[in-house]
Amino acid sequence: MKIEVHKQISAPKKPKPEGELGFGRYFTDHMLVMNYTEGKGWHDARIVPYGPISLDPSAMVLHYGQEVFEGLKAYRSADGRILLFRPEENARRMNVSNRRMCIPEIDEELWVHCVKEAVSVDRDWVPYEEGTSLYIRPFVFATDPFLGVRASHTYLFMIILSPVGSYYPEGIKPVKIYIESEYVRAVKGGTGFAKCGGNYAASIRSQMNAYAKGYTQVLWLDGVERKYVEEVGTMNVFFKIGGEIVTPALEGSILPGITRDSAIRLLRDKGYTVTERRISVDEVLDAAEKGALEEMFGTGTAAVISPVGELQIGDRHILINNGEIGPTARWIYDTLTGIQWGKLPDPYGWTVEV
Ligand code: COI
Repeated sequence: MKIEVHKQISAPKKPKPEGELGFGRYFTDHMLVMNYTEGKGWHDARIVPYGPISLDPSAMVLHYGQEVFEGLKAYRSADGRILLFRPEENARRMNVSNRRMCIPEIDEELWVHCVKEAVSVDRDWVPYEEGTSLYIRPFVFATDPFLGVRASHTYLFMIILSPVGSYYPEGIKPVKIYIESEYVRAVKGGTGFAKCGGNYAASIRSQMNAYAKGYTQVLWLDGVERKYVEEVGTMNVFFKIGGEIVTPALEGSILPGITRDSAIRLLRDKGYTVTERRISVDEVLDAAEKGALEEMFGTGTAAVISPVGELQIGDRHILINNGEIGPTARWIYDTLTGIQWGKLPDPYGWTVEV
């Protein structure tokens, strides 16, 4: 299916933000919108000035949360090019989420084309400063004005763009993580592997509790035995224990991160042993006690690579690598961002120029 993206480039130019960008606070001049109507499919992709949208108060998304989203970034290379990182993987993952949430799939080539067009129109918004990028947020939601519970017959797909710096105020400095033992994020058969807003809404209670105790994020345990490590609020997690790198296997309740997948590939190609398996919180605590827990770090599009310096569960507190970034996290950060910003060669063909 080929859909023309219509540009309506009449948006007034907003002043560009100055100073620290932080994450998700500023938005560009335009946004992409595409409609879905049952019987007609996805249609009328268009780029319009960024601004509020009008929705019926009975729009199904507002009541039952039938919604999915993605996150990827556009990077400015030193020679001024604009690079996306593995956008086809986001397109594929959005369709995995769509299937789970009964949302009609979007042709993946069209999806990537929409992302490229949206970024292209606002290309002067891709920031130049070290460590910055343009965060791309594609999302789909149910728009039928209806209060019964069923799949909607109409949807909107939208892409908004936000110039960003670090997700965490700590930047690349290690974060403090609280291990959640009261609430759970997901169970197998649920929606844990899908990128739907509801997963994040349900995580906020425990994130707020962690903030109040001085922690940056929550580490989730499995929803059945409350024993195995799953993921951190906005990141997948990796441990380096006695030289081996371990990350929880994807068994249906964890988000299959694209940064996770890229990190595994880079680490293996560098010669590290990376094992995807179940890892219990007791194993992590034991390793820490024996001095074998060398490093812990998170991976995510927004968070990039984020070392973890401290872990807390109940009244047990662990300091990892003296609260400093370890050599593996440093290497993976430099290598991944080197490829993303076009500073290093890209032997994997991961970057796509806009
Ligand atoms: C991302 O890393 O792109 C995410 O979607 C995390 C987000 C909830 C901030």
